[in-house]
Amino acid sequence: MTLSNEQNQPVLTEEQQEKNAVLEFEPLPKQELFIEKVLDSPRYKFVWYVGGFGSGKTFIGSHTALRLALRAPNGRGLIARQTLVDLKATTMKTFWEVLDRRLVKKWNKTENLLTLYNGHEIYFWGLDDIEKLKSLELGWFWIDEVNEVDEMTFNVLKGRLRNKTQPKRCGFLTSNSEGKNWTYQQFVRGKGLRSLADHAKFLTIKAPSTENIHLPEDYLEVLNSYTGDLHSRYVLASFDVFEGQIFPDLKRDVHCIKPFAIPDEWLKIGGIDHGERNPTAFNWAAVSPRGDLYFYREYSRPDAFVDEHCKNLVEMTGNEKIDYWLIDPSAKSVRGKTGKKIDQEYREEYKKLTGKDLKLRYANNDVSAGIARVHRYLRVDPQRVHPITKKEGAPRVFFFDTLTTTLDELEGYKWSKQSPTDENDAKEAPRKKDDHNVDCVRYIIMSRPDITIGTALQRFPKEDKVKDPHSQLLEVAQRNNPEDFVKL
Ligand SMILES: Nc1ncnc2c1ncn2[C@@H]1O[C@H](COP(=O)(O)OP(=O)(O)OP(=O)(O)O)[C@@H](O)[C@H]1O
Ligand SMILES: [Mg+2]
Repeated sequence: MTLSNEQNQPVLTEEQQEKNAVLEFEPLPKQELFIEKVLDSPRYKFVWYVGGFGSGKTFIGSHTALRLALRAPNGRGLIARQTLVDLKATTMKTFWEVLDRRLVKKWNKTENLLTLYNGHEIYFWGLDDIEKLKSLELGWFWIDEVNEVDEMTFNVLKGRLRNKTQPKRCGFLTSNSEGKNWTYQQFVRGKGLRSLADHAKFLTIKAPSTENIHLPEDYLEVLNSYTGDLHSRYVLASFDVFEGQIFPDLKRDVHCIKPFAIPDEWLKIGGIDHGERNPTAFNWAAVSPRGDLYFYREYSRPDAFVDEHCKNLVEMTGNEKIDYWLIDPSAKSVRGKTGKKIDQEYREEYKKLTGKDLKLRYANNDVSAGIARVHRYLRVDPQRVHPITKKEGAPRVFFFDTLTTTLDELEGYKWSKQSPTDENDAKEAPRKKDDHNVDCVRYIIMSRPDITIGTALQRFPKEDKVKDPHSQLLEVAQRNNPEDFVKL
């Protein structure tokens, strides 16, 4: 689809574009600081906005990106997340909401390339293919939810800031806090940077959710109901390392439901966490038409090999059509009883038993990103109607109450104790114990699109938007011959 106005001409002058179309919003204090440092401070080349849930990260990222683009006619920028699916589900959604369509010259949907009236090109990419990045010349880049991205990718992108049309070349990042992960180490402590002078180009801005006065009251209430670690990280954006229970937000009275027959047409996903002496775990989940996840079956058994587990998998699945199975990527390299790789053993056993191919995919096994996404799915959206009670306030994930192993494991899932040596180097990791079904849950949730807290207020009235030729024709026809149309 190409978005353009009738004459394919900018509707606003350049000055108006800067003043009206892009600047007209009231930034929150941290957002103001952020945008000023990214755009105008000669000192800071890399700025990280680390905030709580709904602290305005994606909103300010979008505004900043647009302003950078308007400052560099014929320049080029990149808006990215780890995967394109998540970029589309969250970042691009907000970006389109804050973008005044009058600035658009062309939207190339296949390449995800937006060209503005001044010729500036904005690419929207998933960062899972690092090779692709090596050929880019950018004036700026923005990575949303950067904690899902590895440090190497960020370092490669830094080296792509070579587009000369950009008055100030820069990279900016937005994310929740993930404790003392690489972003913290590089931005706050300067780890991996050559000199103090290099580190002086990095700035971190912390934004608690509670500072976002635009969040609806009921969202704030939900966030403020968080306690302990969860509150300090996902509301206050603290870098403290987690301790204790990993999912205190899992509540049986909210997330557990009585089993029901899952409709055939719902998408179904399986998770496989293979162990030989350790238990092998499977979970089956279904996606409702509105995107909620229902975990409806579990399996956990130690002391057996792939042939036995696969037989159980086939028997328990019966005639259900599972759209895909997610397996730990290490199954590609670990050998099983037959000397073959585990993934291969599953494929062969499954084929032997059913005559069909097992639809196997490799799970995203980034533990901290996976845990963060599980929290987002567990979070209660006060405006969402609960599918069972029909009351307002519902999470995005539910468990049949028959899944006792999975639920016990989720509740008992804990962070391992930190060694008291150097606080700053403390790495947080879950304790390795009874986490096999938890891993399946994590693989499955991580394979679903991310979700975000709110929708940006539409600043631009609908009539301002550039319409496609069909709706323009329809509108003219409606105006000229109103009686031809049924009034709704
Ligand atoms: N300066 C602002 N003016 C008006 N509304 C704002 C402003 N900043 C943020 N918002 C609104 O607050 C809500 C949350 O913003 P946003 O989605 O950017 O937060 P986020 O931190 O990216 O959230 P998430 O944690 O879900 O990724 C949105 O509805 C957004 O439109
Ligand atoms: Mg966001």
